[in-house]
Amino acid sequence: CGIVGYAGARPALNIVLDGLRRLEYRGYDSAGVAIVLSGDTDDGDAAGRRRPGELLTAKRAGKLANLEKALAEEGAHGLRLGATGIGHTRWATHGGPTDRNAHPHRSFDGRVAVIHNGIIENFAKLRAELEHDGIEFASDTDTECAAHLLARALQNAAGATPGEKLAEAMRVVSRRLEGAFTLLAVDVEAPGVVVGARRNSPLVVGRGEGENYLASDVSAFIEHTREAVELGQDQVVLISPTDIVITDFHGNPVEGKPFHITWDASAAEKSGYEYFMLKEIAEQPHAVAETLLGRLNETGDLMLDEVRLTDQDLRDVDKVFIVACGTAYHAGMVAKYAIEHWTRIPCEVELASEFRYRDPVLDRSTLVVAISQSGETMDTLMALRHAKEQKARVLAICNTNGSTIPRESDAVLYTHAGPEIAVASTKAFLTQLVACYLVGLHLAQVRGVKYADEVAAIIAQLQEMPEKIEQVLSMMAPIRELARDLAEAKSVLFIGRHVSYPVALEGALKLKELAYMHAEGFAAGELKHGPIALIDEGTPVICVVPSPRGRGVLHDKVVSNIQEVRARGARTIVIAEEGDVAVKPYADHLFYVPITPTLLAPLVTTVPLQVLACEIASARGHDVDQPRNLAKSVTVE
Ligand code: G6P
Repeated sequence: CGIVGYAGARPALNIVLDGLRRLEYRGYDSAGVAIVLSGDTDDGDAAGRRRPGELLTAKRAGKLANLEKALAEEGAHGLRLGATGIGHTRWATHGGPTDRNAHPHRSFDGRVAVIHNGIIENFAKLRAELEHDGIEFASDTDTECAAHLLARALQNAAGATPGEKLAEAMRVVSRRLEGAFTLLAVDVEAPGVVVGARRNSPLVVGRGEGENYLASDVSAFIEHTREAVELGQDQVVLISPTDIVITDFHGNPVEGKPFHITWDASAAEKSGYEYFMLKEIAEQPHAVAETLLGRLNETGDLMLDEVRLTDQDLRDVDKVFIVACGTAYHAGMVAKYAIEHWTRIPCEVELASEFRYRDPVLDRSTLVVAISQSGETMDTLMALRHAKEQKARVLAICNTNGSTIPRESDAVLYTHAGPEIAVASTKAFLTQLVACYLVGLHLAQVRGVKYADEVAAIIAQLQEMPEKIEQVLSMMAPIRELARDLAEAKSVLFIGRHVSYPVALEGALKLKELAYMHAEGFAAGELKHGPIALIDEGTPVICVVPSPRGRGVLHDKVVSNIQEVRARGARTIVIAEEGDVAVKPYADHLFYVPITPTLLAPLVTTVPLQVLACEIASARGHDVDQPRNLAKSVTVE
């Protein structure tokens, strides 16, 4: 979910709505706002009547546009007048995506409005307790408990001002909640104040002139201020137009960590592209170049200066675990091939959501690599914490500076992809691959390796990748044409071996996410053990073929697999290396990518699959940037 809060002198509604627009990638099942009108200002309605001490809310199921439309049609009444407000864009967890489950939620007495990101795990118990006391619930959400608890706590809260009372009540409530949450609340008795609480879910403060902000991430307020304050876990923050007061859940004062936001607001604009995803696909050569920049010195040695592990720590590593979710997991699968090959250290890749629950064997000499674009994915964060409890060393590969996962890791390697807005990951994936290669190469160099020559050659070849990705991008017209042709397909299969297997999985994931089509990726050799039964006359099968150079056997095996599916009626769409004539007779459609070392090939072979998925989704009339049911950063387990 995305969360925004504003306390200042300007009308809050538009500021909150603008912030929500920039956070909508975090969830778009519903949207809502709450605005407080103060009794002692000049707030008044169109007719000049004062509306003292009012708390107004508006919310709608569906995307933010639905809420905006409703506000426009209904004139928004007093909502436009208040200078304190909160807003929410939801990714549904408890309770379906309906108007009634949309945030904000009001307390039984109407006094407070609350918005929430995360899951309150003990909500059933809390709800039973509140219902027992006669409180009626207006929604199916876990959040509503927090609103009622807050109103109750306010009745006896101590504090010199109404704002301080609200902060104290928030501390009382936060101590009772289990799970993950960011909560923001406004109180009709405390106009000019927004109070937030944070445990395990993201929340940052934006410091303005005579106004302050709270948000899930800085993009919500970057238009207004570049000065931000990082909050830690289990903290409560009060903002007013002039103050930012942070405490822990027990009321002890805490210093927030100030930081300056360096990226440009335009990085989060579409800049003429129809979709963010198209822009982000086009940015890939640059993103890859940026991620490599400054990491290699003139003699080709890797300079991983952000990695705070000593060379000795790295020499002691006897096992690598990679944990990640979604697209980042596919980057991890590629990394396994590279790391094991270059370093000869056993490397396992695991879905972060499975990792800690199966009691993995970890110790001091295990290196756990957590890959996450957002740095906030709860499954990955929990896997990381489990690894740390077992004394493993944790290295984060992350695209978001200062986010939770890198903050809690022993070392960090940032991908420099810039902000990724489209929900389906593209440029972040390619830069995650680069970061994984760098980690593998670094480990190999530090430990002294069997394939020293190959490692040196790969370092040089990595530098050529931005240009090769650029070449692939310039050859996408036939892919777009094919996409229109495949738009009505019932199912699309993807096959690959070795590093092309995760590429096949990633291609299928993109198509599922964006086009809502049945798509599955398989290890090409595994097809004959079952999935080949899926193939029918005309079933499109996308075959990612390894280079015929290097590991030639692998190439020949995939060519055989292509023949097997073709013999059963499949329509074969082949992605192969330039000059690979052996595949020609078996390809109904053939797309070449530039010659690339086998292990680096995913950097080029993934690109046509991204474009294909994007174009198919667009041909089917879907919102490419905001696919249904998904959110970009999933901060619940
Ligand atoms: C969500 C997104 C995916 C993403 C995954 C991991 O499910 O929809 O696109 O790959 O989270 O995100 P992370 O930020 O940890 O890389």
